[in-house]
Amino acid sequence: MTIDLATLDGRERHKLLNGVVVPRPIGWISTVDENGVRNLAPYSWFQIASSTPPVVMFSAGKRNGVAKDSALNAIATGGFVANIVNGDLLEAMNATSVEAAIDVDEFDYARLDATPSERIAAPRVTAAPVSLECETLHHYEIPDGGNTVVFGRVLVAHVRDDLRDENGYIDIRKLDPIARLAGLDYATLGDVVTVPRPE
Ligand SMILES: Cc1cc2nc3c(=O)[nH]c(=O)nc-3n(C[C@H](O)[C@H](O)[C@H](O)COP(=O)(O)O)c2cc1C
Repeated sequence: MTIDLATLDGRERHKLLNGVVVPRPIGWISTVDENGVRNLAPYSWFQIASSTPPVVMFSAGKRNGVAKDSALNAIATGGFVANIVNGDLLEAMNATSVEAAIDVDEFDYARLDATPSERIAAPRVTAAPVSLECETLHHYEIPDGGNTVVFGRVLVAHVRDDLRDENGYIDIRKLDPIARLAGLDYATLGDVVTVPRPE
């Protein structure tokens, strides 16, 4: 089957791309607006963009032509926190995806504790195994009404003590990351295969 993307409507394009670029990590993005109102929402169009300098990105769709609140806040206030979601936080993460007005505090809505960040106005999710405090570096508007892609320089990483060994490696079994698939589906860490690099 060969598909010309121009022949698909928006929903079909979304289903195709969202279904084949899997599994995706989830950046659980906390921000504040210019009045200090907290916001928290999951973004699975989330990735490392660079490690030196350390940069991550998330991609926010639009509602009625306007970027979602997380992107608006990150751009307006200059920062966001990317919290990592583990198995214990799956339900709470899902609750924060509620389509809520910009003045709704999703920490309260999902009954989540927040810890003040060190360098960013937005707090982090206290229970998250890892939280990356990011300073908004840049945002890119995908042409033709596409997503708003927000890049943030990671200033501080909060990592649960038992997750990182003396060589700096993260124990991904203990991290227990949740990944996004498509529709209502998620994946947990399954079999891990170790493959030596070619000489
Ligand atoms: C696991 C998960 C991943 C999501 N990933 C994205 C994403 O990458 N981009 C996006 O625009 N919306 C995504 N959504 C939907 C947003 O979380 C949802 O629209 C939310 O209300 C946005 O909140 P905000 O306007 O406060 O930023 C995702 C939802 C879930 C449950």
